[in-house]
This record gives sequence, structure tokens and C-alpha cells, in this order.
Amino acid sequence: MTPVRFLTGITTSGTPHLGNYVGSIRPSVRASFQPGVESFYFLADYHALIKTDEPARIQRSTLEIAASWLAAGLDPERVVFYRQSDIPEIPELTWFLTCVTGKGVLNRAHAYKAAVDKNLAAAQEPDSDINMGLFMYPLLMGADILMFNAHQVPVGRDQVQHIEMARDMAHSFNHRYGNHFVPPQAAIEESVATLPGLDGRKMSKSYDNAIPLFASRAQLQKLIAGIVTDSRLPGEPKDTEGSALFQIYQAFASAEETTALAQAYAAGIAWGEAKHMLLERIDREIAPMRARYQTLIDDPAQIEAILHAGAAKARAIATPFMATLRHAVGLRPLQAVAAPKQGKATKAAGATFKQYREKDGKFYFKLADTSGKTLLQSRGFDNPKTAAQSIAQLQEKGAAALTDLQAQLESFADDAQAVAAGVALAELVAAK
Ligand code: TRP
Repeated sequence: MTPVRFLTGITTSGTPHLGNYVGSIRPSVRASFQPGVESFYFLADYHALIKTDEPARIQRSTLEIAASWLAAGLDPERVVFYRQSDIPEIPELTWFLTCVTGKGVLNRAHAYKAAVDKNLAAAQEPDSDINMGLFMYPLLMGADILMFNAHQVPVGRDQVQHIEMARDMAHSFNHRYGNHFVPPQAAIEESVATLPGLDGRKMSKSYDNAIPLFASRAQLQKLIAGIVTDSRLPGEPKDTEGSALFQIYQAFASAEETTALAQAYAAGIAWGEAKHMLLERIDREIAPMRARYQTLIDDPAQIEAILHAGAAKARAIATPFMATLRHAVGLRPLQAVAAPKQGKATKAAGATFKQYREKDGKFYFKLADTSGKTLLQSRGFDNPKTAAQSIAQLQEKGAAALTDLQAQLESFADDAQAVAAGVALAELVAAK
């Protein structure tokens, strides 16, 4: 059975806050522990270039977000955890997607439209101060997702449109060049679709209303004291509806704890006391992570090494897949030019699969080129039927099947082997 593949990224342009934690980090760490789930989580540092031109800030943010994810319990052995800019295939795929996407589609993207509306409201030229990065943002995000053929993308509501666009890109590409991409779906956590900030608007770096995830307890207390409430006095019943304090509490509390606070609101709890409950509830969850976070932040070389290992896992999929996609669109080695078909084309014998049994009693397969060089090597299977099914999947889908089969294959010796495997698989699929 194909595992469900989750993929999500966080833009590395600021210090992670409770909204990032509740909306993205916590659900993705939880999802990664479910059985039958494969997770791809990454630091979206190419995306950060759209939002900031401060190099030191991007570097610092990348470190902080990586440390936050790890402190929250992400196990880099269990998931593929990487930095976007370590995967050069992603910008290359962005270009392929750019060429199958209508400009009008991007004109309608919310983030771009909001920037245009803001200019118009200020009597500026519509595109004043808007860089092409903002305009093309959905294409880069589409490449992030389609590169690994993710099924589910856990995101906030504001990102749903981007996932729909990625689906359209998958369809347009598949329609022109064959079935390479799985159209992804957005996975929204309903209970925390958007976490309000200190002023009641969505918690966001850009509104300056965020609570940093790893604020000290003292800082946390101070920030919580600043959450906007109404002026009802102790003893007066309070509304949970529209109360930022209540919504933040709910994102951390169990159903029973939430009901208890709702009752306390009705009974006229003092705002000061409610804020104290919120502080305690958040701190109970975050305090144990704070120490781990500090240790990680103090050892950037360790995080760098973790990200390198993650990039190697990601590229074991991305490199051969990209080779297939290049082949699919016509960026091909010239010696393999297919002459326009005249009568019965003579097809050069390409790479072939070989299935065999080893002394360890297990069943293996490999893909070898005409000179016998191994392009792809399986791990041992207990049962020959499973090995045959994997071969069938590769013959059917080419390198697009590599993400599914990741656990069954040995990693490539180098990029050259990965590219050769991708090209050979593309030719097998094309020759069918
Ligand atoms: N755009 C997302 C954000 O700002 C981050 C992101 C980039 C992302 N690429 C992605 C999220 C791919 C999910 C999948 O929050």
C-alpha cells in the first residue's frame, strides 16, 4: 500500500511564533508519527528571499526554525527534513511549471492581488514595489510540492489557493507530457485554522502581534498580559466568541479544559486570572521544549549536518525524477535523437530489469544499462511477488514511482547514477 505523503515548509524570514507552532510545526510533527505516513518537511529559504533582503536574518531564521522543529520532536531519521536551497532541482522544476501556467492564474493569486490593492488604495501604480518573486511565489511552492509528489499539504487557510494552483500545474503538465505528478490536497487543521495574535488579528510577523514560540516564561507572561480584552470587570460574564485569549487557550487545551474555561468566562472570571491560566497552559507544553531548543541553537554545526543528511535523502528522489522530467519535456541527450518514425522503428534496446535471489535467501532486482552497469539497486525482499510489483510500478510510472519505493531501494552512489537512472526510466516509460 502506498503511504500517504505529507509535505510542508516554513518560510525562513523571521522568528517562529505560536501561530507557526500550532498551525504547522505541531501538526506536522504529530503526523510524522502516524503509521503509513511519509513526511517531507523543509525550510523554505528561497521563499524568504521574496520577503526580506537581510541575509543575516534569513540565516538566523533558518537556524531558529530548524531548531524549533527538532525541539518539537521531529525525528530526522523518520522524516525527510531538508533546506529548500539544498535541492537545486526545485528551482529547475519551478521553470518547467512556469511554462505550463497561464499568467492570468498568477494575476489572481491572493498575495499578489492584496499587494496590488494596497498600491491602488495608496494611489500608486498597481505593480509599484512588487517583485517578480511575489508574483511567481505559487510556482515555487508548486515545485516544492510536486517535486516529491506529496498527497497532503498541511497549511493554514491562507495557503489553500496555492495548493489548488499546484493541482492545476500538475494537471497541465501531465496533460502535455504524460502522467508524472500527483495532484496534491490541502490538509487544514480545523481547530487552529488561524491563531489570533495579541491584537486579535491573525498572528503574523507582519502585524507585529506575535508571541515567539521560545520566549522565556517571563517574556511570555509579559506578552500575554498585553492580549487585548474588553473592559468587563471581574464578576461580569464574558464572551468566548471573538476572545483572542480564549482561542489561543483552546489551541493548547484539551476539550475538557476548554469547556472549563468557557464556564469560567460565563461565571465572570477576571481577565487577569484568565491570562494566568493561559500562561500556565502554554508553558506546560512549551517549557520542556525550551531546553532542547537552546541546546540545538547553541550547536549550529549539528543542525547543518542534519540538514545535509536530509538533503541527500531528498535528492535521491529529486535528481532521478528531474532527469525524467527533463526527458519528458524534450531536454534530452542528442545522441538519443529519435528519428521521425519511418515504418517500423527499430528501438535501441535500453536498460533492463533483472530479478534474482541472493545467498541471504532474499529476492532482489536491479536496473542495468546495456553495458551491464547498475542504475538502480533494490534492497532485499522476502517475497518475489513484492519485488515484481515494484518493478511493475517503475515500468508504469518511471521515476515518479521513486518516492513510493524509497524504502525499498539502495541510495544512488552519486548524482550521475541518479540522473542515468532517471533517463533510463523515462525511456522505458516512453517506449511502452
Ligand atoms: N508559503 C508557505 C508559507 O509562507 C511556506 C511554503 C513554501 C510551503 N513552500 C511550501 C508550505 C510548500 C507548504 C508546501 O507559510
